[in-house]
Amino acid sequence: MPPSSSQCPVDHSRIATSAPPISAEADLDEAVEFIEQFYAENPEAGDPARRLAWARAEILTTGTYHHTTAELVWGARVAWRNNARCIGRLYWNSLRVRDLRTVSDADSVAAHCRKHLRIAGNGGKIRPLISIFAPEAPDRPAPRIWNDQLVRYAGYRKVKGRPLGDPRYLGFTQAVRKMGWRPPYRPTPFDVLPLVIETVKDGPRLYELDPVDVLDVELTHPEFEWFAELGLRWHAVPAISNMRLVIGGVSYPTAPFNGWYMGTEIGARNLVDADRYDLASTVAGHLGLDMSSEATLWRDRAVLEINRAVLHSFEAAGVTITDHHTESERFLAHVEKEERAGRGCPADWSWIVPPISGALTPVFHRYYDDSAPGPQFVSDADAVARAQHGGPPAFADIAPAADDRLARFLA
Ligand code: ARG
Repeated sequence: MPPSSSQCPVDHSRIATSAPPISAEADLDEAVEFIEQFYAENPEAGDPARRLAWARAEILTTGTYHHTTAELVWGARVAWRNNARCIGRLYWNSLRVRDLRTVSDADSVAAHCRKHLRIAGNGGKIRPLISIFAPEAPDRPAPRIWNDQLVRYAGYRKVKGRPLGDPRYLGFTQAVRKMGWRPPYRPTPFDVLPLVIETVKDGPRLYELDPVDVLDVELTHPEFEWFAELGLRWHAVPAISNMRLVIGGVSYPTAPFNGWYMGTEIGARNLVDADRYDLASTVAGHLGLDMSSEATLWRDRAVLEINRAVLHSFEAAGVTITDHHTESERFLAHVEKEERAGRGCPADWSWIVPPISGALTPVFHRYYDDSAPGPQFVSDADAVARAQHGGPPAFADIAPAADDRLARFLA
């Protein structure tokens, strides 16, 4: 994903990424709209009348309703199809869905997150995958994963100079240390952070990932041997874990999902952004570039070589990755396919256009539909804050009351 919202010059507010606040009750109109859409796009499912009546009755008596497995799978796929910021949507219909709606305790969520990484990593042949845990329901708040991705690297403040590791996670790292996480004896720039999983019952709990769960790639360059000595690496599976999946009025706040990387996400953003690993000048130095003036374009040349290294290394390691030219072509094929199916393709230009060589890719040279149909992945402000600062907890205020209600519910 491209810009962190603080940096992006474009007003994203017109595209609803933060839908109405999370509700435990399912809205009847949204449910009806979703079910009608499901039957319209899946004619083999038959006539929606009985299904609609059943869902209505369930909502009126319990405040929410259960999706069928087919609805859940299709809903998750369409939430991906509707994600205006994702360039990789051509394969939306092949997203694998793990139905884990019966899973809600922290230990099991953590174990299933680890399993998610292993299934998705698949020894390098990355599989797009979503694991959907218990939904939000009246009197049963869903669990929350605090991390914004299942795999993220710690950031450590140093007495002097640049931080070690990923500066984006300085706050999160500090918070998990306070909660009891011990960094390795010798911290490195790529120490995998623990998962923080919060439930009403147990509050936030820490879970280390096992190194065997975390497929990653050491970065080397196709020509420059010194590149390997920089000791850079990146994880193979980008699994977003703090967005809320909303299907027909039902919220699934814990539904980590992944595709595979496009090289520029790592090579032009994670390793290069000034508030991330900020490596442009280090690499330019090794390349012996003239950095006395911006006009020598040393930055552009350094970033280009980092991107070559990323693509080369993943390919050499047999780990799925894509380049921004190929992915731009695929995206436009997707847009055309959607148009042939009689649908628009919601897209946000400022996220779709790659962070380097924009105008060299065909996605640059056009405008896009900026509607925001459901189902959707939405980003809630409190979830974004937890992922960055390691708190405040989701249930700090409501815990005792909700616990009471939970006890009554279980009784
Ligand atoms: N940009 C994010 C990162 O660098 C990942 C976002 C999702 N990307 C993807 N290819 N599915 O970690």
